[in-house]
Amino acid sequence: MVTMETAELETDLSLFKYDTLEQLPASYRGLEEGERTERIEAALAELGDDVVVLGHNYQRREIVEHADFVGDSYQLSVQAAEADAEYVIFGGVTFMAESADIITDDEQTVILPSMEASCPMAGMAEALQVDAAWAELTDAAPDADIIPITYMNSYADLKAFCASQGGLVCTSSNAADAFEWAFERGDTVLFLPDKHLGENTASELGLEDELARWDPWDPEGKDGEAVADADVILWDGYCQVHERFRVEHIETIRNEHPGAQVVVHPECRREVVEAADVVGSTATICETVAEADPGETWAIGTEIHLTEHLQRWHPEVEVLPLCGDACMDCNAMRQIDPNYLTWVLEELVAGRERNVIEVAPEEKELATVALDRMLEL
Ligand code: 13P
Ligand code: SF4
Repeated sequence: MVTMETAELETDLSLFKYDTLEQLPASYRGLEEGERTERIEAALAELGDDVVVLGHNYQRREIVEHADFVGDSYQLSVQAAEADAEYVIFGGVTFMAESADIITDDEQTVILPSMEASCPMAGMAEALQVDAAWAELTDAAPDADIIPITYMNSYADLKAFCASQGGLVCTSSNAADAFEWAFERGDTVLFLPDKHLGENTASELGLEDELARWDPWDPEGKDGEAVADADVILWDGYCQVHERFRVEHIETIRNEHPGAQVVVHPECRREVVEAADVVGSTATICETVAEADPGETWAIGTEIHLTEHLQRWHPEVEVLPLCGDACMDCNAMRQIDPNYLTWVLEELVAGRERNVIEVAPEEKELATVALDRMLEL
């Protein structure tokens, strides 16, 4: 455990936080889908109201099919806050399960079926690294009141750090509201970890010329003068699934499918978001296709599992992956294997809790403040 310099917190590198979670026993590997579905349904029936299964839109079909609720990360945090089941089984990644643990009551237990479901973008802003950068940033802009906002895609200790410095959490569906909240209380926003969501949100608010970039890995990427003049400082994180999309993909789709419309996630590059017809969280992407007229064509710029769900859920709409076969699945979300779901559920039936996500109490207290500020936006 290392103590932070600017916040009263002791923490570890998030990279090593979940290395104690358990691997799938050999007897659960390679289960055949029919048998697995029966076993999951039997376990869920046995557990009844004691369990709620939440699934992010990027989860595999075999997880989404068993979820009580499927949605974007904001909707899932609201569902977690409202859940009264003893166990919340989270089909998502570690930062989402941590947020569920923070938001649920102390008597409730959050289980992340599989270890290694860690979002690489969340790992691009380690709380200890941000704590060290904070001193440099506040030195570079001594007259500015900097408010840190962290995207939901971050670990609990970074959420706690942001609360300790007067900041909050946001998701892709409320980032602009979070910026406005921050500007009512300070002069400058430090946005972590996703530079694209930060830039897209700043542009939405007319602040596209008021940006400074902060690359913690590159001494040349830290421009103190720019920080002093900026309204928004962008930390240099990104999502590889979304950075892949290019304006050329949009042009190709429009050439090959006249009349096709494009909806993208705000983790995409600025020029891609500008060229798209609609931009929004995974919930907005789902609504856009759900509200499309039969026969319309929509190209989807986000993780491939969601595109495939939309093809299944709305056969009356032509749903295309924006960059064809080059569209990626999320390596972190993919770790939630349905065999793991079977295992954690059957273990609960047998009275054993596996792969429990538990945020340290002092982190939890502050991270709750950051998440509550978001839920009150
Ligand atoms: P949403 O908040 O839109 O569900 O997105 C989460 C995410 O991880 C996108 O990559
Ligand atoms: Fe993280 Fe990108 Fe996966 Fe979202 S799609 S969980 S940002 S790696």
